[in-house]
Amino acid sequence: MEIPHRVLLLLLLTISFAISQNDPTEEVQEFHVGVILDLGSMVGKIARTSISLAMEDFYAVHQNYSTKIVLHIRDSMSDDVQAASEAIDLLENYNVEAIIGPQKSSQAIFISKLGNMSHVPVISFTATNPSLSTRSLPYFVRATINDSAQVNCIASIVKTYGWREVVPIYEDTEYGRGIMPYLVDLLHEVDARIPYRSVIPVSATSEEITQELYKLMTMQTTIFVVHMSDTLASLFFIKAKEVGMMNKGHAWIMTDGVTNLIDSLSPSVLESLNGALGVEFYVPKSRELDDFTMRWNRRFQIENPTDPPLKLSIFGLWGYDTIWAVAQAAAEVGHANTTFKKPGESIEVPRGFQVPVSGKKLQVGVCTSGYPEFVQVKKDHITGATKAIGLSVDVFEEAVKRLPYALPYEYVLFSTKDDRSTEDYNNFVYQVYLKKYDIVIGDITIRYNRTFYADFTLPYTESGIAMIVPVRDSRNKNTWIFLKPLAPGMWSGSIVFFIYTEELVQRFLSRIVLIIWLVFLMVLTSSYTASLTSMLTVQQLQPTVTDVHELLKSGEYVGYHRGSYVKGLLEELGFDRLKIKPYDSPDDFHNALSRGSNNGGIAALVHEVPYIKLFLANHCKGYTMVGPIYKAAGFGYALSKGSPLLGDISKAILNVTGGDTMIQIEKKWIGDQNNCQNVGPVTGSSTLTFANFRGLFILTGVASSSSILIALIIYFYKKKYRSTNIALDNLNRPEDTGLSDESSDHQEGNQGGRVEENAQLAGREENGVEELTSLEMVSDKK
Ligand SMILES: *[C@@H]1O[C@H](CO)[C@@H](O)[C@H](O)[C@H]1NC(C)=O
Ligand SMILES: *[C@@H]1O[C@H](CO)[C@@H](O)[C@H](O)[C@H]1NC(C)=O
Ligand SMILES: *[C@@H]1O[C@H](CO)[C@@H](O)[C@H](O)[C@H]1NC(C)=O
Ligand SMILES: *[C@@H]1O[C@H](CO)[C@@H](O)[C@H](O)[C@H]1NC(C)=O
Repeated sequence: MEIPHRVLLLLLLTISFAISQNDPTEEVQEFHVGVILDLGSMVGKIARTSISLAMEDFYAVHQNYSTKIVLHIRDSMSDDVQAASEAIDLLENYNVEAIIGPQKSSQAIFISKLGNMSHVPVISFTATNPSLSTRSLPYFVRATINDSAQVNCIASIVKTYGWREVVPIYEDTEYGRGIMPYLVDLLHEVDARIPYRSVIPVSATSEEITQELYKLMTMQTTIFVVHMSDTLASLFFIKAKEVGMMNKGHAWIMTDGVTNLIDSLSPSVLESLNGALGVEFYVPKSRELDDFTMRWNRRFQIENPTDPPLKLSIFGLWGYDTIWAVAQAAAEVGHANTTFKKPGESIEVPRGFQVPVSGKKLQVGVCTSGYPEFVQVKKDHITGATKAIGLSVDVFEEAVKRLPYALPYEYVLFSTKDDRSTEDYNNFVYQVYLKKYDIVIGDITIRYNRTFYADFTLPYTESGIAMIVPVRDSRNKNTWIFLKPLAPGMWSGSIVFFIYTEELVQRFLSRIVLIIWLVFLMVLTSSYTASLTSMLTVQQLQPTVTDVHELLKSGEYVGYHRGSYVKGLLEELGFDRLKIKPYDSPDDFHNALSRGSNNGGIAALVHEVPYIKLFLANHCKGYTMVGPIYKAAGFGYALSKGSPLLGDISKAILNVTGGDTMIQIEKKWIGDQNNCQNVGPVTGSSTLTFANFRGLFILTGVASSSSILIALIIYFYKKKYRSTNIALDNLNRPEDTGLSDESSDHQEGNQGGRVEENAQLAGREENGVEELTSLEMVSDKK
């Protein structure tokens, strides 16, 4: 900066010499500056001395400056109108290029507007009302700190002492009122209430102040915050002391309006302030400050020989600094004027974030995933452009479409060393940190580790880590399945009743019982049939493993995708390193799982849920997902830290994943999951096989065989018995010769007996049906 200026100055000097070689003093450019202060006030007097010292000091140090400010000091006499008319005079008749002052906030409002109109900066080092701001008045420059800065201190004091009610007392001016909104807010934050506000007009007489003080005395609150300029405050505190409110039991907190000038207050005022707390600007002690203070004191004495000596205050220091700043600025403007017209003003407020407008597109890092369904990167051979496809890409493109603004982007390939692995993906995410890409997309798991280098969007997939386990057909192949539909009690009950009923059926009335029994049997049979049918035909597939701890206990082998961080999790869970096996592809998973843990394979494969869904879509039958056993955040995109796009893209992702679009994208890349569910029927499941009824066949077979066997045994036994009998008969016969005659006789006798019986029967018929029945039964029994 310095060197070009010198060169410029040299150039300027040369040109000036060329024009007027005779008078070198003429080339000094004058820069007129107005100063408006209340020269009768303490602040005004202090500032005036500082200003004159500053002028001397600045040009003593910068003797070679070609621009010199010329001050036009005016007294506003503590009057807003006077201040305004002085400002107009300065602007119209002296063409001032800057105004230092005015002293009061109320004066500053109007003069700043004048400055705004005439494009002349108004630089005040004493107007502290926070409502004056550069935002509404671009030509107002505050060379001090506004009053809202000190309310924090006041609130802290209130909080420290735990005061619950505070009464603010302030002068009825722009300056006095300006602090109130901030004070109210901050007191509210520290749980202090404002039960009353005391507003004192600047013109208030001693009596009016005393009256107001009496009013305050009647209130319960004894904590007061006083915000006034020094003149009013001096009178106020003297009166407060008089009425006895500066005693024990009352707390007074003063803003810097009083405390900044406390060293210059008269002894009587100082005495009345005994015990009051105040907020004051802190100026670090230094040799320079001491030197300056000494010079200042001397100068003040010279300039104000009749006044009581005042002490240098913060206003004096700010006034001094303001002159230096204005003088420096004037010198800069002076240089600038010689080279170009206009200090390159851009009225446009920078937008903060450059949404790539034209030319620069958002650089989207992509790399081919081990699962091409998620990301696959291709190079267009003709245009050379990088193209990406896959689920992750579709979701990203869909999300970008839903941003409220256009976001041009292009894919940039990130080449990984080998296949997808955690290390590679860590590295991939790290590229964002290196600013190689604005965003990286893919099947990137949101991990704590990675958040140090990048910010992640919300996930676009389900989250978690789960297991793939084979399912087993748990259909009952048991030989004795036909016994299952009825519980043992039911079986024994039925058998007992069956036998019992069989006994009874021989009686006539029992036939009714039999009918009921048949109905019962019908119901029983159909229930039995239904139950058995469902047992035999409804498929019951169940996972072979249901809990990861089961695997731990039984010491079976588990698999994981090589390079995945899942390995670490499994070790954390307590798996032996030897029991964890890495596999490279879904086909390998399938092979290992189908071999099983005992045959060199694995009992389960642990993986991230989105990949499991993909696996299950391809290996529909025979596997299921168990878990999640671990939480994980899912897949997201990584952006450079603090990227303003993060919130918008996350919002857009939510919009995509929450709607039908996500289902369509998943269908496209993973397949329709509804088409593949292990609960569906397995081939030929509804046909009954011999095996299903083996038990029944055995039972029937055994029963039939044993019946035949028994029958045969009886037959042969009887045959043998009869043959022995015949043999015996034959042996007896030759001895018994009159056998035939005897037998015929016997027959006749028998016939006679039957007639007799019939007669008896006829006679008994009159005795009723009962007897008949019993007789019949008896004859039946025969
Ligand atoms: C300040 O001036 C600008 C134009 O120079 C104007 O747009 C703006 O309204 C002015 N502000 C006030 C408070 O007068
Ligand atoms: C007032 O000062 C505070 C603290 O220094 C600052 O945050 C705030 O922006 C300022 N207000 C105005 C209007 O200058
Ligand atoms: C991430 O955490 C794993 C342990 O879970 C550790 O081995 C790895 O070094 C970490 N990586 C980074 C980049 O911090
Ligand atoms: C996505 O955004 C559109 C437009 O704001 C809205 O109508 C729609 O309901 C949103 N969809 C979801 C799932 O949030």
